[in-house]
Amino acid sequence: MAIRNIVELGDPALRKVCKPQEKFDLRLRVLLKDMADTMYKADGVGLAAPQVGILRRVVVIDVQDDHGLIELVNPVITERSEETQCGREGCLSLPGRQGVVTRPMRVTVHAQDRHGREFDLTGEGFLARAICHELDHLDGRLWIDCADRELTREEISGHIPEDGDEPEEEETEGEEA
Ligand code: NI
Repeated sequence: MAIRNIVELGDPALRKVCKPQEKFDLRLRVLLKDMADTMYKADGVGLAAPQVGILRRVVVIDVQDDHGLIELVNPVITERSEETQCGREGCLSLPGRQGVVTRPMRVTVHAQDRHGREFDLTGEGFLARAICHELDHLDGRLWIDCADRELTREEISGHIPEDGDEPEEEETEGEEA
C-alpha cells in the first residue's frame, strides 16, 4: 500500500489534458492500487490520476454503493440524461471548499478495465456526479469552472439557520473527489 501525494489547486498537473493510458501492465495496476488507497485514506469518493501528478486517463471512484470500487481507464461519456441534478461538490485537490454544481442525473461511460477490456457503465445520482467530476479532471477541468456558486464556510459546516428555523444540527458531510 502506497499513499501518493494529492496535488492541490495551483499545481499545473490539474490543468493538463491527460494522455490515453496505452499499456495495461504492472505499472498501471500499481497506479490503480495506489490511487484507491490514497482515495480511501483521504475519505474521498473519487480520484483522478492527475491529482497524484500522473497525466494519464485513469480514475477510481467509490461512492459506497453496490458498485464498490470502480476503475475507469480511458473513460468517455457516451450518454448523458437531459434531466439534471443540482448538488454539493468538493474535491480532494481543493480542500475545504465546496460548491453547488449542476450535473446530468444519469450518464453512461465507455471505458477499459485494468486489463484493457472494454465495458459500459451507467451511473445515476451521486455516481453520475462523481463520474462527471472525475472525467473533468482528465481534461484539466475542476468543479470551480462549472459551479453555479461556491458555498460559504458557514454553509459548508452546516450551521445555517433556514428561514428562521432552528439551526440544523447536522449536515451531510461534503464529499470530496
Ligand atoms: Ni476532484
